[in-house]
Amino acid sequence: MLTNKNILLGVCGSIASYKSATLTRLLVKAGANVRIVMTRDACNFITPLTLSTLSKNPVLTEYFDPQTGSWNNHVELGLWSDLMVIAPASANTLAKFANGLCDNLLSAVYLSARCQVYFAPAMDLDMWKHPATQKNINSLISYGNILINPVHGELASGLKGEGRMAEPEDIVSFIENELKKKLPLRGKKALVTAGPTYEAIDPVRFIGNHSSGKMGFALAEELSALGAEVTLISGPTSLSLKNQAIVRIDVNSAEEMLNAALSHFPDSDISILSAAVADYKPRDVSTVKIKKKSDEFELALIRTKDILATLGSKKKQGQILVGFALETNDEEANAIGKLQRKNLDFIVLNSMNDQGATFRNDNNKITIIDRDLNKQAFDLKPKDQVAADICKKVLDLL
Ligand code: CTP
Repeated sequence: MLTNKNILLGVCGSIASYKSATLTRLLVKAGANVRIVMTRDACNFITPLTLSTLSKNPVLTEYFDPQTGSWNNHVELGLWSDLMVIAPASANTLAKFANGLCDNLLSAVYLSARCQVYFAPAMDLDMWKHPATQKNINSLISYGNILINPVHGELASGLKGEGRMAEPEDIVSFIENELKKKLPLRGKKALVTAGPTYEAIDPVRFIGNHSSGKMGFALAEELSALGAEVTLISGPTSLSLKNQAIVRIDVNSAEEMLNAALSHFPDSDISILSAAVADYKPRDVSTVKIKKKSDEFELALIRTKDILATLGSKKKQGQILVGFALETNDEEANAIGKLQRKNLDFIVLNSMNDQGATFRNDNNKITIIDRDLNKQAFDLKPKDQVAADICKKVLDLL
């Protein structure tokens, strides 16, 4: 959720600022780009050197940096941020934010930011309970900022009560959950098929194809990044998934892929079948290794069941079904034929005539054709970007 997100961490003067070091580390570990603005008082509790080392970025405190002679541009910092986290947020800084004061760099960045702001207060229990603080908190919430509630426990004063800043791990999972809520495919289930199938001839030989599975894996990652619960049914491939939330089912043959797809399809809102499924399989599979005898060898083949067409015949209203077509000639006419025969919502056409867009490649060049025969042709691009284009079409249909 936080990969490549630009996060501005605001650190205020509070004993809880020692936890900002762990928070910074967790955000960086989650893949975020972290820039930190500290208030002057925060620097009395934790050194900017600690936080700049952990964030891998210079820490800013003042508008003007006398050492470099440069101006720390609060507007640029605000616009750079995808989200802002104020942790710990002191009573004083909250009061400034709530009332629009900007007498230091942090409060000026806050006023300039257009992004979502989260704040994790830390203060003594009576300061927290004070009507002035509560009024400021309510004002901040009414401006659209999100409160990460302080927790109950022992406070720096020795008193016990509410006011401890939430633990860094809890702050990170709180933010991740909030971001997940906004994902467009949250609550949707997606099914993806990928890779080749291997049709056994005997215990050591099979009929297969050159599909790498890269397109299907990229689709599974993209659907998951958009919030869908993804099941990936993969034929034999050496690929691995980055996103641990994706459920992966490994299969070998077209029949195994069909059975896995049939059991998941009824619950799936979106099904994208990108696997290069064998159209034929050996009629008889030898249980022992076939020995060479004569100069010629004939293998009888029978049709496999078309998984995409099978799912198309069972498709209910509201389910989106997407297929692929790899063509060498009469590309669009063939693709439209498949779209209609297999009852698809749209088809992704690959042409073997496009350089650099075939099996095993990291790039792909596609044309999307939908039921109304609207066509969208895309440039050659990396498969993760192609996956994003395909998912964008799914989002349009939803
Ligand atoms: N497909 C499938 N099950 C099969 C064969 C294909 O699910 N047994 C799916 C593929 O995943 C892909 C689409 O169908 O989404 C490809 O269509 P298809 O008509 O099978 O393409 P080709 O195998 O290339 O067929 P043809 O030889 O007729 O061009």
